[in-house]
Amino acid sequence: MIEFKGVSYTYPGADAPALVDVSLTLARDEIVALVGANGSGKSTLARLCNGLLLPCDGEVIVAGISTGDPERVVDVRSSVGLVSQNPDNQIVGTVVEEDVAFGPENLGIAPDELRVRVDAALVAVGLSGMERREPHLLSEGQKQRLAVAGALAMGSEHLILDEPTSMLDPQGRADVLAVMRQLRAEGHGILHITHHLDDVAHADRVIALDAGVLAFEGSPEQLFADEDLLARLGLELPPLAAVAAYLRGAGFSLPVAISDARELVESLWP
Ligand SMILES: Nc1ncnc2c1ncn2[C@@H]1O[C@H](COP(=O)(O)OP(=O)(O)OP(=O)(O)O)[C@@H](O)[C@H]1O
Ligand SMILES: [Mg+2]
Repeated sequence: MIEFKGVSYTYPGADAPALVDVSLTLARDEIVALVGANGSGKSTLARLCNGLLLPCDGEVIVAGISTGDPERVVDVRSSVGLVSQNPDNQIVGTVVEEDVAFGPENLGIAPDELRVRVDAALVAVGLSGMERREPHLLSEGQKQRLAVAGALAMGSEHLILDEPTSMLDPQGRADVLAVMRQLRAEGHGILHITHHLDDVAHADRVIALDAGVLAFEGSPEQLFADEDLLARLGLELPPLAAVAAYLRGAGFSLPVAISDARELVESLWP
């Protein structure tokens, strides 16, 4: 579990805080979507989860350990895998399997165990068979999944994915979302930072930041139904979701996760 207790953070030299008095809990076995406008503090919150940044005020506790405890930095980093916004920035290996092995190797994992972890992580993200490929030759979606495999091989209970679908085509996005659901089923907790409200529909819970302040915590349905809040957060319903929301308002019962027009029609006329 990751717990934020009254966490505030201001970057050195910045005029305004990036995060203000945020309290929240992220459990395992759930996908939580984190939304908010550009600059609202999403990536800052992500970096606080694994101790990459330490709170100026308040405390972040990971599996009972404060991220500020200098003696437990390795424990915190290995429990919370952070996949940052640009996957190119975190490629370190010259071939796929080396890249995935890098993190656990640095934790001092023995070679036999390392092989098992790397293979399992590549299977989990659908990249097995690509062990010897050069990471830079992978598609954007494959690079995102490679970054997820790296975090998995660390044995992280929690994965923080910062806009993992932002550069992907619909198929790439669907693949990454499928990996998230699979990981949740295996007991990982996932924080999915996204600009796409389509992605939010797949989450168990949503949290939203507005200028560094926690402005919403609830279900995707609750968020989608609150037009004023969406406008305040600078979020726009995708066209299909807007149609579905309108129909729901008119009394039709529709599932919240509708991914294409066919599904919408089939929900209306089963
Ligand atoms: N390294 C930094 N130094 C100083 N200020 C920063 C730094 N990184 C972010 N900020 C500022 O902190 C605030 C929150 O930024 P953050 O990157 O967390 O937002 P975000 O919600 O992830 O935005 P985006 O949607 O663009 O990724 C912004 O005002 C930003 O300008
Ligand atoms: Mg960001």
